[in-house]
Amino acid sequence: MLEKIKNTAEYILSRTKRRPKTAIILGTGLGQLVDHISEREEIPYTEIPNMPVSTVEGHSGKLIFGLLGGKEVMAMQGRFHFYEGYPMTSVTFPVRVMKACGVETLFVSNAAGGMNPSFRVGDIMIIEDHINLFPENPLRGHNYSELGPRFPSMEEPYDHQLIALAEKIAKEKNIHLQKGVYVGTQGPTFETPAEYRYFRIIGGDAVGMSTVPEVIVARHMSMRVFGMSVITDLGGFGVPVEVSHEEVQEAANVAQPKMTEVIAEMIKRF
Ligand code: HPA
Repeated sequence: MLEKIKNTAEYILSRTKRRPKTAIILGTGLGQLVDHISEREEIPYTEIPNMPVSTVEGHSGKLIFGLLGGKEVMAMQGRFHFYEGYPMTSVTFPVRVMKACGVETLFVSNAAGGMNPSFRVGDIMIIEDHINLFPENPLRGHNYSELGPRFPSMEEPYDHQLIALAEKIAKEKNIHLQKGVYVGTQGPTFETPAEYRYFRIIGGDAVGMSTVPEVIVARHMSMRVFGMSVITDLGGFGVPVEVSHEEVQEAANVAQPKMTEVIAEMIKRF
C-alpha cells in the first residue's frame, strides 16, 4: 500500500511542475469550477498507475492541475463511490496520493438530500460535521503509522477556520448558506421516508452517498478539510419523496455558480 501510494504520487509529480498544497474533489455542484482553473494540465486516470478503473464507460475521470485565484490546485474530476462496488481502499486511494504529492488542504463537494425542515432544494450547506453510516470504516485493517495514528481523533473533521472563512465570504457576496451535519450512507438507494426521519432524529441535516470515507482518510493524515453539499431534494416531512437522478442534477445546476464562487474565493484568500 505505501509503495503503491509513493509510486503513484511520483508518477503524477513527474507529469507536472505544479506542486499544489490544495486539492479539490469536484463532486456534484462543483463541476464548473474547472472552467475557473487557468493554465490547466490534465492527466486522465487511465494513465495513472494504481488508480481504480472506472465502472462507467467513457467516464474515467481525470486529475487537473492549474491555478485558481492565483493558487496552485489539483482537482479530481470524477470520484469513486462505495456503491459502485469499490473497496474502501480504492475509494480513498486518491486522497492518500494527494497527501503524498504534498497536498495539505482538501475541498470536497457532493449532492445530498435535506431533512432539516428549514432547507430548500438548491440550498448549499456547509458541512459542519458528519455521521458515518457506511458499513465499513476506511481505516479498518492494518494501520500504517507512517500515514497516521491507529485511533485518529475526529474532534474537528471539518476545519473551523475554513468554515468561518466561507461564512464571511458568503456574507460579503450576499450568498445564503446553510450549515449542518452530513449523514454518509452507502446507497445506492435513496432513503425511505422512515429512514429520512431516522437520520433527522439522530442529528442529521442532509444525507448523501460520498465524502465521509475521503474525509476520514484525509483527517487520518491531518489534512485540513472543507466540505459543501448541494441540497438536491428533501425528505422526511411526512410527504412521499420521489427523487430522480435528473432532479438531483437540475437542483445542483442551480446551486453551482454560488458554490463555485465561494470555493474559488476561499482558495484565493486562505
Ligand atoms: N439521499 C442520498 N443521497 C443523495 C440524496 C438523497 O436524498 N440526494 C442526492 N444524493
